[in-house]
Amino acid sequence: MSLKTTKTWCIRLIPVVLFFVSYYFSQFFLQSYSRSPKNPAPSKTACGSWLVAKRWESLNFNITRKTQLFLKMADYFWKQHQSTLPLPYGIKGSELFLLKVLAITASYEMPASIENLDCRTCVVIGNGFAIKNSSLGAAINKYNVVIRLNDAPVRGYEDDVGNKTTMRLFYPESASYNPSIHNDPDTIMVLVPFKQNDLRWLKEILYNEKRVRKGFWKPPPQIWMGSTSQIRILDPFFLHQTAGTLLHIPLQPRKNQKPIHPTTGILAVFVALNYCDVVHVAGFGYPESRNQNQPIHYYGRDTMRSMRDSHHDLSHEAEALKRLEDSGAILFLHPHS
Ligand SMILES: *[C@@H]1O[C@H](CO)[C@@H](O)[C@H](O)[C@H]1NC(C)=O
Ligand SMILES: *[C@@H]1O[C@H](CO)[C@@H](O)[C@H](O)[C@H]1NC(C)=O
Ligand SMILES: *[C@@H]1O[C@H](CO)[C@@H](O)[C@H](O)[C@H]1NC(C)=O
Repeated sequence: MSLKTTKTWCIRLIPVVLFFVSYYFSQFFLQSYSRSPKNPAPSKTACGSWLVAKRWESLNFNITRKTQLFLKMADYFWKQHQSTLPLPYGIKGSELFLLKVLAITASYEMPASIENLDCRTCVVIGNGFAIKNSSLGAAINKYNVVIRLNDAPVRGYEDDVGNKTTMRLFYPESASYNPSIHNDPDTIMVLVPFKQNDLRWLKEILYNEKRVRKGFWKPPPQIWMGSTSQIRILDPFFLHQTAGTLLHIPLQPRKNQKPIHPTTGILAVFVALNYCDVVHVAGFGYPESRNQNQPIHYYGRDTMRSMRDSHHDLSHEAEALKRLEDSGAILFLHPHS
């Protein structure tokens, strides 16, 4: 290339560069401006007669409370996301799948009716047997935010688990092919990506591409009838912090060691502690592991036996829940062991 053509090209590129620079700065200022003081400080008066959870600051997690739950396009498009870890604790290596997914889902927020509440009351419904025959359904429906997990059913169990679902956390293996059966039309469906294939699965469904079936520990649905506008991707920040700060499990297991990841249940509790002013829970706890035939869920026939090979550390999680309960950060809605 001659000097002259190089020069011409440089001159032609100037407007493009200027555009990017000005876009970046406008984003930067918009963001710093909109980082409003809404964050912590749940006020007792705003929460009325609700039993207010212990303040986030006093939980001593040494991390900032994060109320932006979902990944959004702006995090990736213009700026390098500072993730040094791959999934499930960061997005390193999965950026392209993520971009394609975020481009089509296009909403990254909680509904405004919840965002704007002065006091957000939340209940996390675990799938444990303990909630069976609890008759908690009506009480559960009264929370602003009802968080459910995986493919736990609602229809047929309303008396015990309620019938309202604000938000459901799931991953491909725990997805049900037709979310409308056990969710509300406006339930926010939150994908928790544990591995790159989880994002790829959603991308293939959203773009109706050929499905790759390998790389799952259980075949995920090949069709998924959820509504695109209800899909969100949970920020891996929350799994990272649940593992590192709440459970103290190694983020990078040594060679030949089975990786241990938090369950969606304990993750949901941690997400709620970040987002909500009141966090109550029900349906948590496993039976004594000595009894391998005891059912573990309020539905179906799974027993402790089926948990043997899971990549979870249930005793660590039980201790963490106990710590949170003892410190007043969460409240159980039913008696439990
Ligand atoms: C948080 O930081 C303080 C001061 O650095 C330290 O004393 C405390 O142990 C930390 N807490 C946790 C849970 O790491
Ligand atoms: C739940 O209630 C039904 C009907 O009263 C009873 O048959 C069943 O044993 C109860 N289950 C539990 C776990 O208490
Ligand atoms: C829950 O049940 C009540 C009473 O049967 C009903 O009025 C309400 O529409 C139901 N809500 C949902 C989201 O299904």
